Amino acid sequence: MKGIILAGGQATRLQPLTLVTNKHLLPVYDKPMIYYPLQTLVDAGIKDIMVISGKGHAGHFLELLRSGSDFGVRLSYGVQEEAGGIAQALALCEDFADRDSVAVILGDNIFENNVAETAVKDFEKQKKGAKIFLKEVHDPERFGVAEISGEKILGIEEKPKKPKSLLAVVGLYMYDEQVWDVVKTLKPSGRGELEITDVNNYYIDQGTMTYEVLDGQWTDAGTFESLYRANKIIAEKKGSKK
Ligand code: DAU
Repeated sequence: MKGIILAGGQATRLQPLTLVTNKHLLPVYDKPMIYYPLQTLVDAGIKDIMVISGKGHAGHFLELLRSGSDFGVRLSYGVQEEAGGIAQALALCEDFADRDSVAVILGDNIFENNVAETAVKDFEKQKKGAKIFLKEVHDPERFGVAEISGEKILGIEEKPKKPKSLLAVVGLYMYDEQVWDVVKTLKPSGRGELEITDVNNYYIDQGTMTYEVLDGQWTDAGTFESLYRANKIIAEKKGSKK
């Protein structure tokens, strides 16, 4: 399995913090934000990882992370010319994946626990389809929201006004090689983006999507409130280790 970190986008919600630097380079406690999703993939035992960034800051990512040898992995880099959505950024990784399955993580998603290791093993047993992770949140209208019935996931709505549950779809996704055909069929959403939720709904309709509800804390870091929360999660985790 190969790894993909998506760190494009414009992060307008974090201005003025993101006027001259990139969201994923901002500090989360004692490290640049992108270290955390990278470590999540490293902890899962993934050795080949591609980082997609926006055009303004690609050099900064290269300077910071270089070959990946500090993390014991091989890094490749790609540039998303415009912020056309998460699925558009993903589509740039087809040649890198080379028909292997992929674990995709959003560059602003921070997990308290090591989530991906057992999940990668479970997904490899699954052989076909996709896997997502859900977490109960107090503000589901900010996320993709899943409707589930027992073991089955019925569908996902992106930023619904009336969420059907409190279960947010977190920014860690596992896909088989069909994903490259799916991304080619997508049309821009109301917000003008190619949506990862449309990719996930394809697998749900096909009946090959599995899910897990996450243990431990999780947050994105794309708003001031969630960036603050990300800092708190990491600070508390570090504090508990002393
Ligand atoms: O954090 C989880 C949520 O992430 C999911 O619940 C949603 O279903 C999913 O759409 C996404 O929601 P956001 O609207 O909060 O995503 P945002 O636009 O903040 O982008 C999240 C990351 O994705 C960002 O840190 C970098 C990457 N990205 C985003 C865009 C729009 C790209 O690489 N390229 C892009 O064009």
